[in-house]
Amino acid sequence: MATHPRGLTSVPTAGATTAPAAVADAVDTVVTDLALQLDDTPPAVVVRDLVRTYGVPTKADGETPVLLGVDLTIRQGEFVAILGRSGSGKSTLLRALAGLDHDVTGSGTVTVPERVSVVFQDSRLLPWARVLDNVTLGLRKADALGRERLAEVGLAGRERAWPTELSGGEQQRVSLARSLVREPQLLLADEPFGALDALTRIRMHTLLRELCARHRPAVLLVTHDVDEAITLADRVVVLDAGRISLHLPVELEGTRSAADPRFAALRARLLDALGVPPEPPAERTES
Ligand SMILES: Nc1ncnc2c1ncn2[C@@H]1O[C@H](COP(=O)(O)OP(=O)(O)O)[C@@H](O)[C@H]1O
Ligand SMILES: [Mg+2]
Repeated sequence: MATHPRGLTSVPTAGATTAPAAVADAVDTVVTDLALQLDDTPPAVVVRDLVRTYGVPTKADGETPVLLGVDLTIRQGEFVAILGRSGSGKSTLLRALAGLDHDVTGSGTVTVPERVSVVFQDSRLLPWARVLDNVTLGLRKADALGRERLAEVGLAGRERAWPTELSGGEQQRVSLARSLVREPQLLLADEPFGALDALTRIRMHTLLRELCARHRPAVLLVTHDVDEAITLADRVVVLDAGRISLHLPVELEGTRSAADPRFAALRARLLDALGVPPEPPAERTES
């Protein structure tokens, strides 16, 4: 991977043009990425004209690309949630940022920081390793930091437990601790709470917000849950027909409540962008 002056790295991806253009040059080409016009915090992620196709495209059957030219910038410390219908290419985009997309062809540029962590829906813990060893896997002399991160996710005292002794929510906490122990500049999360029950999910939202406020990684959260996106993100983007069709800043301060009319307005806007028809007004019962 090529390293840029600001510690950013071009991810080499199948068939992609990954010339290590300076990030500033890449930024200059942006016209659609609203965040860039809003503030001048340096970018952590710059994706330009990303095209991705599974299988080998031939003239005969002409595989349709999943991503048709994605442009996305994520600022340092910015939390971006990406929404899109199932199969719209959210995971494909996330894998491109993680450098895990070896089974695709395509073009475009992806620029990410050096330290990137990924969290999936499945915690992907090694069943034969204790909790602390899962957190510090691959790192040397990281036990103290691992314990610290476990305490941060509410699992102090569970260092020697086996993953199978933990609930699904606790396993995802370990997975978060494992990602944070690497002090990521970019945290990629692909539907990390998708398999959790509603109450655990709410607790995990609070935890993730606290952790991100403290460690300030740039975040790309893939979700299909509109409320989750509004609750957590600084900006929500919608992926549709292979491109980002909407950038929606979430300017709600403090703890976000679905009862806030501004929350409801954002939800309506996002559902519209996702092609979900508006709910019919509640029927009034005359007394
Ligand atoms: N490894 C793969 N091989 C072939 N097709 C794939 C592969 N992964 C995803 N796809 C296809 O690419 C499209 C986008 O998938 P994905 O990025 O997983 O969507 P999302 O995460 O938005 O649900 C889907 O039509 C899916 O079937
Ligand atoms: Mg997916």
